[in-house]
Amino acid sequence: MAGFHQETVLSVHHWTDRLFSFKTTRDSALRFSNGHFTMIGLQVEGRPLMRAYSIASANYEEHLEFLSIKVEDGPLTSRLQHIQPGDSLIIGKKPTGTLLIDYLLPGKRLYLLGTGTGLAPFLSIVRDPETYEKFEQVVLVHGVREVSELAYQSYLSEELPRDEAIGELISAQLLYYPTVTREPFQNQGRITTLIEEGRLFSDLGLPPLDPEHDRVMLCGSPAMLADLKTMLEERGFHEGNTSTPGHFVIERAFAEK
Ligand code: A2P
Repeated sequence: MAGFHQETVLSVHHWTDRLFSFKTTRDSALRFSNGHFTMIGLQVEGRPLMRAYSIASANYEEHLEFLSIKVEDGPLTSRLQHIQPGDSLIIGKKPTGTLLIDYLLPGKRLYLLGTGTGLAPFLSIVRDPETYEKFEQVVLVHGVREVSELAYQSYLSEELPRDEAIGELISAQLLYYPTVTREPFQNQGRITTLIEEGRLFSDLGLPPLDPEHDRVMLCGSPAMLADLKTMLEERGFHEGNTSTPGHFVIERAFAEK
């Protein structure tokens, strides 16, 4: 097959009625950088139906992992949400994207700001030892509407710091800050509000955003990306891309699915 590999679903986890994740086999020829997305999908009536998905697993892992919304009338996710272990999936052979630490200028601190399934590429990036070589501190902020949508919360706060291979780096250098907007939780409010009001920084004991030291990656809905891009530019940050590194980079996670 030309553009994709046929893979097998290994496991599926339903977080809520709007959100699920799944693991698949990985072709030994598939290479990617942490933060990349690739096309994934299903054969529907003999034709590939594919959408872009960030890869949530790290590039040294044997399997692949993805986080997805469920859209009732979404062409792909209305079908994809029913996958079971043993089912077949198709996965694009050419992962790509701009959420790579290589596309950021050197800095002290890396902020990973994601809403909803925008968490996915950051799961890969926080498991990459190189992230901690390049940055002294990594701050992962995940914004969702309801507590149940905080996918991977216990993995990030409990399991990962105890991981045999990278637990030590995680414990010393990763700060995880989940925040909820539509019900009570320890941290509440949109990421934009938390930055504007300075609550994110006072809660974590960090200085306000500064383009001299801080680097930022954004992944979320178009509205969230637009608002945060404006806020960063107002603070003197310049956007980077695959040819010119910058103070921040963006990935659009919410294409129609
Ligand atoms: P809110 O509940 O105030 O809309 P969604 O599931 O709609 O993608 O939202 C995920 C999270 O992103 C929610 O907490 C939502 O807050 C938040 N959000 C939505 N729009 C923006 C925005 N423009 N800037 C920052 N956060 C946003």
